Amino acid sequence: MQVIILKSAEEIGDYAADIILRDVARGSLNVLGVATGSSPLPVYAALERRWVPALSGLSAFALDEYVGLPYEHPESYHAVIHREVTERLRLDPANVHVPDGNAADLEQAALDYEKQITAAGGVDLQILGIGGSGHIGFNEPTSSLASRTRIKTLTPATREDNARFFPSIDDVPMHCMTQGLGTILDARKVVLVAQGTQKANAIARSVEGPVSSMCPGSALQLHPDAILLLDEEAASELTLREYYDFVAANRPDWQR
Ligand code: GLP
Repeated sequence: MQVIILKSAEEIGDYAADIILRDVARGSLNVLGVATGSSPLPVYAALERRWVPALSGLSAFALDEYVGLPYEHPESYHAVIHREVTERLRLDPANVHVPDGNAADLEQAALDYEKQITAAGGVDLQILGIGGSGHIGFNEPTSSLASRTRIKTLTPATREDNARFFPSIDDVPMHCMTQGLGTILDARKVVLVAQGTQKANAIARSVEGPVSSMCPGSALQLHPDAILLLDEEAASELTLREYYDFVAANRPDWQR
């Protein structure tokens, strides 16, 4: 796990864009895993600013979606991904996939989503945010570390966090369809971005805590190529805080 502490959300966005644009230029990134939430917005902004035509050739798979929210609802992840990712990165909408939270057969739709990811060759780079409880995607605490795309029930805390996007908490759906932790761990590279003190505890538990379903982000300790881009506040509860800077300052040339 690489822990990289940067000065601002803008720097985090640029750093993630550097990684993405480099992998696109090398030809090792064809399938991008995309996330909703406010944390990855600076990444999409940087990619929009530094747009290159090769970005249009990417396929994308979103992590999750609410169950039962109409596709055209502005807070459905179909709508959010279209607005924040497909349009800004100028992707072909036919190549952008979001779990179908309105399918008549939700269990089948979840299985089909896994098959679509596999058929596309798997996710090359997954962008992730993290929730205050340590959830990634919508994998709430106690999600199986081996879970695949499926229906989950949101915790009251997540519904409260997301109530800011809806007229009231009663309008926040109770269920979601989310890639599992096993699905996320199959991505070849993971770039998690987190800003603010409200993420500090989830980050400390994910990076330095035991691997536990009680903190789904800790599953990333099992990933061979996970990069965490944090601001000072999100890094503020890390015990080995100084070591991460030391590593960054002494990175060998071949690893830069
Ligand atoms: C939602 C999304 C997650 C996201 C989390 C944090 O629960 N399903 O993918 O990481 O919110 O959102 P934010 O980045 O706005 O704090």
